[in-house]
Amino acid sequence: MSDSPLSRRTFLGTAGAVVAGTALTPRPVVAAPAILRRSFAAPVAISSSNGLRGVARAVELVLAGTDTLDAGIEGVKIQELDPKDSSVGYGGLPNEEGVVQLDASCMHGPTKRAGAVGALEGIKTPSEVARLVMKYTPHIMLVGKDAQRFALSYGFQLEDLLTPESREAWLQWRANRGANDNWLSPDVKGPMRHTTGTINMNVVNAAGDISSVTTTSGLSWKVPGRVGDSAAVGAGQYTDNEIGAAGSTGLGEMNIMACGGFLTVEHMRQGMSPTDAALATLKRVVAMTPPRLLDERGRPNYQLQFYAVNKKGQYGAAAMTRSPFAVCDEKGARIEQCATLFS
Ligand code: GLY
Repeated sequence: MSDSPLSRRTFLGTAGAVVAGTALTPRPVVAAPAILRRSFAAPVAISSSNGLRGVARAVELVLAGTDTLDAGIEGVKIQELDPKDSSVGYGGLPNEEGVVQLDASCMHGPTKRAGAVGALEGIKTPSEVARLVMKYTPHIMLVGKDAQRFALSYGFQLEDLLTPESREAWLQWRANRGANDNWLSPDVKGPMRHTTGTINMNVVNAAGDISSVTTTSGLSWKVPGRVGDSAAVGAGQYTDNEIGAAGSTGLGEMNIMACGGFLTVEHMRQGMSPTDAALATLKRVVAMTPPRLLDERGRPNYQLQFYAVNKKGQYGAAAMTRSPFAVCDEKGARIEQCATLFS
């Protein structure tokens, strides 16, 4: 895995600029930021692999003093606004009626607060709406039309979240969904499976403050109104500022069954490394898996990943089968491979 040229330069460049500025200014002496006095255990941002640009952005912002949740949300917004990411925000694949319904949740370790939205339509950045729920209401989760009205009251614009590509993918799915449907299939490209995709990001700063955020368009072609794990605090993501943060991508229903974000943090509380904690959670998920989601060898026929970071800035990720993740620390932003439960 090679370092992203941008990230390593950005990280060291930011620190270097502070040092250079201090050297050129004899009086007053400016104390170096905490990150320069520590052993570079933090800041760290870890995410699903689609967050490579996002983790670099989050660490850059944290180094500049931005709060860990605000930094994480700026990181995931890159994907929410990217029409080419078909798993998140604008361009995310729609439900079976062709409507994009978005889920997101976030948790802010220092203030022990959380916010979430489910089945939100027409707003490109549900992560920002989840943060508004956290900040300005005594509640945790708003859903559907009321979540949309809430977002509009803060000035968000209603937008068509389908791109030409995601609309075409949905039309293809609709036309090929089954032999007995009422649609002609003049341009058969074969059956289009349900897909999952999401971005989870967990961020710790040099002071050991931690936050997490997850955002998604959910399972493609889902039943309208289906809300997945990304909106579920404790499943899609979870933070305990004393311990660490964890979140997930993959088949949300199975994560919800195990409360995977929470469980991974609890495993770290028991002393497990982030990687071992994520693997232990996956084992619990497998134990909860119903027969219809197991293959002939008894293994899950779906993918699920967990990403975790602890207060010291140690990070790790695990997946059912081979899967990459993104991380940024003092070595820069890069892709690494999750530990796996199955080969
Ligand atoms: N993990 C995303 C979803 O299942 O909705």
